[in-house]
Amino acid sequence: MNSQNPSLRLGVLISGSGSNLQALIDAIENQQLPGVEIALVVSNKADAYGLQRALTHRLPAIYLPWGQRNVGAQFIAPKPTMSESEIRLTALLRLFQVDLIVLAGWMRILSAAFLEQFHQRVINIHPALLPDDGTGKTYTTSDGTQIPVFRGLHAVQQALDAGVKITGSCVHFVTPEVDAGPVICRQEVAIEEGETEETLHERLKVVEHRLIVEAVKRCKSVE
Ligand code: GRF
Repeated sequence: MNSQNPSLRLGVLISGSGSNLQALIDAIENQQLPGVEIALVVSNKADAYGLQRALTHRLPAIYLPWGQRNVGAQFIAPKPTMSESEIRLTALLRLFQVDLIVLAGWMRILSAAFLEQFHQRVINIHPALLPDDGTGKTYTTSDGTQIPVFRGLHAVQQALDAGVKITGSCVHFVTPEVDAGPVICRQEVAIEEGETEETLHERLKVVEHRLIVEAVKRCKSVE
């Protein structure tokens, strides 16, 4: 945290609809997150609806093309193990004095070199249940059932395909291994009859909107 600024400044990274970003905006505007502000919203997609949400609320919002060759980025902060997009992202996060990076539907993997600059300061929302330390192949639900851990882009569909009765969402610290960092908070969600990936994901998002606010609150309380 910047010593001249008592707020916890969030950098929210998005790729799509930004409903979790909206949950943070609402919580801040409703005084549920005292001492927290959104310093910057970054999207790797120009048409991400989340960018509109940010601008509607007069928040700094930037479209950062990802994975393209960005000539000149090496002059900002040479760090050969990071991609040029990551170098640019790092410069933006520093410029806007971001303390905590929230991956809210951000669909790009961040390298170990990028993450090591922000140790325990990058959190992610994942639409499946991870064990406490984030690692391992199974998760034990509150009714004692062992279910597989679903990682990656299709975690919601994987839960349906596996025929599990309970899934959920969690917010966890980001480590170089994808969807495998220590869990900050989570909630189980029962899978209903006839559920599709869409209906289940929508119900998981409702839970996530509470979880992301709780996770940021916890991060604020330990800084
Ligand atoms: C969320 O379901 C989150 O779990 C996943 O991406 C989705 C983003 O949704 N990582 P939104 O853009 O916040 O609506």
